[in-house]
Amino acid sequence: MATNTESFEDTAITPASLREALGSFPTGVAVVTTLSDDGKPIGLTVNSFNSVSLEPALVLWSLALSSPSIGAFRKHRAFAVNILRKEQEDLCMKFARPADDKFTGVNWTDGYRGIPVLDGAMVTLECEMYQIVEGGDHEVYMGTVKRIHKTDSSPLVFHRGQLVQLAS
Ligand SMILES: Cc1cc2nc3c(=O)[nH]c(=O)nc-3n(C[C@H](O)[C@H](O)[C@H](O)COP(=O)(O)O)c2cc1C
Repeated sequence: MATNTESFEDTAITPASLREALGSFPTGVAVVTTLSDDGKPIGLTVNSFNSVSLEPALVLWSLALSSPSIGAFRKHRAFAVNILRKEQEDLCMKFARPADDKFTGVNWTDGYRGIPVLDGAMVTLECEMYQIVEGGDHEVYMGTVKRIHKTDSSPLVFHRGQLVQLAS
């Protein structure tokens, strides 16, 4: 073990120490969208997105149980994962706080079962809900990929609490 290693066990594993440890794992950033009961677009920034299976085509992400958007995701049972380009830091921040008007000034089109597909995302995966799994203070949403839109742009990256870009 490296000499500057800090170790934690059991009760010393607090939300803060866990968040810090997990933050060392760089991820992409996506805005996950769905539709509310009354047809309003819903969306939030996530970095919990990941691949699950190629055949069948399955992906997952997780949503905090405290999110006001939870009812819409549970009910509509379809979502789009809009993976952000390196230039879309503003969009990432806009969808990372609770607000009624997150979609104001954002261009999007109707996708699979009406879910919002954001214009200009690096890649969008339109999904049908496959399974909802309990996950502590989050709920894990696994989806079957129904449509893919992709570009060859470069991703926005989240690492140690910061938005960064890949070195070329
Ligand atoms: C880079 C980044 C990643 C995030 N990842 C998640 C995530 O995976 N799941 C989650 O529930 N919230 C995540 N959040 C926090 C939500 O974006 C934030 O709580 C937002 O307000 C949720 O939208 P809502 O309040 O309308 O539900 C993330 C925020 C940032 C900045």
